[in-house]
Amino acid sequence: MIAGNRSINYLRISVTDRCNFRCRYCVPSTPFNVIEHKKIARYEEILRITNLACDLGITKVRITGGEPFVRKGIFSFLEQLCAIESLKDISITSNGALLNREKIKKLISFGIKRLNFSLDTLDPDKFAQITSRDRFQKVWDAILSSHELGISPVKVNAVILRGVNEDEIENISALTLKYPFHIRFIEYMPMGDSAVEKQQQILTKEIVKKIESRFGKLIPIKHRASDGPAKKFQITGAKGIVGFITPISSHFCNDCNRLRLTSRGTLRPCLLNNYEKDIINPLRNGASDDELKQIILSALTKKPSFHGLSDQLEKGIPISHMTSIGG
Ligand code: 5AD
Ligand code: SF4
Repeated sequence: MIAGNRSINYLRISVTDRCNFRCRYCVPSTPFNVIEHKKIARYEEILRITNLACDLGITKVRITGGEPFVRKGIFSFLEQLCAIESLKDISITSNGALLNREKIKKLISFGIKRLNFSLDTLDPDKFAQITSRDRFQKVWDAILSSHELGISPVKVNAVILRGVNEDEIENISALTLKYPFHIRFIEYMPMGDSAVEKQQQILTKEIVKKIESRFGKLIPIKHRASDGPAKKFQITGAKGIVGFITPISSHFCNDCNRLRLTSRGTLRPCLLNNYEKDIINPLRNGASDDELKQIILSALTKKPSFHGLSDQLEKGIPISHMTSIGG
């Protein structure tokens, strides 16, 4: 599928808006409603849309939430998803709290080779402050087990906030000295009404400075077209990689090769732009495969060349929060 000069081969599927964590940069600070069950796309509906998207050129899928593993029946869904012949690459973003060795083995047996975890600190107390859940050890065990069982790469996403975990940048980066992990520092994006203040945002430049003053100059790694938005580097002698995802300080929209399917069954061409195209209702009302493919293609024509996040925020338009879109 083509959008502008970009070829779209990557579909991110959010299977639920629910999460067992309450990360302060992600969930709104005010009470919020979860989506009614009947409005959530059923697994067989997601599989049908995915199959059609694959006919149109999708070869990579990432499963996200909320937290994917809070949804009932997720393992059997993943098994069916992995059976789609034309999908070459299936990965999952998870907070890790509900994964253990047995479950990770199961994922591997389906053919899943890559996992992304969220981990913003190595300090259990701070972990509980950020996520509102005392689950550091569970998450750390899941990350280590994934590595030991052969998941490669194990990616670790960290969002750094001033006054919260800026003192963890070096510790988290140092994981790459011991493990072949891909650490990715993601700039905080103001979405919905999260509890994080604008002044707490730390941009990549400052994070790089901290890492370099501790570990010396970072070595850039050549970017490949399939790499996604992270700019990658290595600490001298490290086994792993540190990457930076910079939605705020330097937009990467031109390279963006993805389309999102939200848990409400809408197609969202851009994370940071609120335009969504309904596909679930036409599907439930009996649309044919061809009609659904037309809907997918027409959503793509709305893929912006630039997300215009600051524009939207200036106009006071809130960006939907992450759990409802699927990071
Ligand atoms: N800004 C930046 N990253 C965020 N994530 C969730 N909310 C935000 C936000 N507001 C990240 C989490 C997770 C990934 C899918 O998205 O760290 O790892
Ligand atoms: Fe849940 Fe991930 Fe959001 Fe944290 S960042 S609340 S783990 S969806």
